Amino acid sequence: MPIVRGKQIDVLYTAEQINQQNLRMASEIAADEYKDLIVIAVLKGSFIFAADLIRAMHELKIEPEVEFISLASYGSGTEAGEVRVLRDIESEVKDRDVLLIDDILESGNTLKFARELMLERGARKVEVAVLLDKTMRRKADIFANYVGFECPDYFVVGYGMDVGHAFRELPFVGVVKGDVD
Ligand code: IMP
Ligand code: MG
Repeated sequence: MPIVRGKQIDVLYTAEQINQQNLRMASEIAADEYKDLIVIAVLKGSFIFAADLIRAMHELKIEPEVEFISLASYGSGTEAGEVRVLRDIESEVKDRDVLLIDDILESGNTLKFARELMLERGARKVEVAVLLDKTMRRKADIFANYVGFECPDYFVVGYGMDVGHAFRELPFVGVVKGDVD
């Protein structure tokens, strides 16, 4: 079991397993019809997943524009689930196909907000790719078109995902266990 920052980490998905799912998702994306595609990575958690997925897409001759949005979600555990834009994209999405990329789809509040925002701005279609789907946590009416893994109800870290700003750099997805003694 890897030890990072004095904690034992239980590996849930290895780098190799993640890579395989990225290749599968890229081929699913390539099989769908996208025109004038703009990929929007939802920061910060998706940065490694997005970087790997767009390179897997490149191998299949997909040539998207790449943008970034940073969203803050308040009280994700509460009913309100209010979301606001911390840093917006810079490009127009009007009449374009959009693919939102995020690390985890949990309550769905964040991605529902982002999807509706892009549709309001006139995007032709807005699809969603996530590395992990925690379906049992869903509150909002949204689904992902491309899913890496159906994730059990653990709090996970690594591969871009953090707890208290730590562990984003791990090349795998894991669950933090106790201190090493
Ligand atoms: P929601 O779907 O709006 O509830 O928010 C999902 C977001 O919460 C993800 O994009 C992550 O940033 C964060 N998140 C949810 N579950 C986890 C987890 O297990 N580890 C790290 N971040 C998480
Ligand atoms: Mg996130």
